[in-house]
Amino acid sequence: MKLQAFQTERFFAQYEFSAKHLLSVSDCETITVENLLELANMTLADLGHLALGYTESQGNPELREAIARTYQSISAEDVLVLGSPIEGLFISFQALLDKSNEAIILTPAYDALFNLPEDLAAKAIPWELKATANDWQLDFERLESLITNKTKLIVVNFPHNPTGFLPTQIEFLKLITIARQYNLWLLCDEMYRGLEHLPDDQLPSAADLYDKAIVLSGLSKTHGLPGLRAGWLVIKDKTMFQGVLNWKLYTSICPPAPTEFLALAALKTAEKLKQKNLEIIKQNLELASPFFQQWEDLFFYRKPKAGSVALVELKQGNATEYAHQLAKEASIVLLPSPFMRFPDRFLRFGFGRTSFQEALAAYDVYLANAKKTE
Ligand SMILES: Cc1ncc(COP(=O)(O)O)c(C=O)c1O
Repeated sequence: MKLQAFQTERFFAQYEFSAKHLLSVSDCETITVENLLELANMTLADLGHLALGYTESQGNPELREAIARTYQSISAEDVLVLGSPIEGLFISFQALLDKSNEAIILTPAYDALFNLPEDLAAKAIPWELKATANDWQLDFERLESLITNKTKLIVVNFPHNPTGFLPTQIEFLKLITIARQYNLWLLCDEMYRGLEHLPDDQLPSAADLYDKAIVLSGLSKTHGLPGLRAGWLVIKDKTMFQGVLNWKLYTSICPPAPTEFLALAALKTAEKLKQKNLEIIKQNLELASPFFQQWEDLFFYRKPKAGSVALVELKQGNATEYAHQLAKEASIVLLPSPFMRFPDRFLRFGFGRTSFQEALAAYDVYLANAKKTE
């Protein structure tokens, strides 16, 4: 298997640890190990007593129980704890796809969601989100027109990176009905679940609705712990579960013991971590609205419904060139859309960090200066 370049991660690698203002990150504000243990009523001494032997390949049973409790109909047996969330995508696609089948992927998409199916399957077919005046929309007629007798898998991600789109419950059920009707697997990336801006908007997990669902989740985004590398898959189908687990034995064998320990601590205080991050996102969205109103000549802003990011349309120019220029001239990082299989006129904004206010103010100054020299 030949792997194509992971452009989003490479773009971030170029600027992430040197630029002053990260206006595009998808994770949320993080905390220290000490803070996390304190919130979970645990101590650093507890962590110190942890033995560093191999762990169970499927994941620590207590952790799997705690994860299973976050779903309606899932048991610890359906949960596979990973070495990292991204590993879950790699091993799922390996188990599902080969040159005899096709996958349909909702776009724009986080690189791995599209690139891996494209490299593994006979065909990876984009199912484009449609931009409307104020929002994004799923086109089910289009989806059905893309299904062939080779289609094995539909790939979606809700809440959606990079648009902040969230379907309604009715739309989500319709998607599952279509998957069921054509007997397709549904990989649902739920890394941002819990970050719905209105709590009533939260969708049920695909894992609770459909036996042929493969659900990815983890603690990087909603809980703000990306350095923990804690993630899991939920797969009810036993044959598929074993197929995916076999791939995992070649990639990480078993989850890191400290990650499992701290993931269990994080799940004990999950609600607090989530609420903290939702609060930051809401405050930052309050700042974003007047900013985009002020610069409405430049941007078309569709307010996100869920998650930590939004995809903002440039009214003129090329997003990739613009993003590099902005990073070099103003040390402000915005991710351009082509990496996510979308036309080159969108930029991703991220609202999950407390540094957003300062970064947005710096961008505002940059735009005002650019206007003066026009
Ligand atoms: C939609 C989506 N899925 C999976 C991942 C991978 O998560 P992690 O970086 O924690 O492995 C990301 C990270 O940006 C993501 O946005």
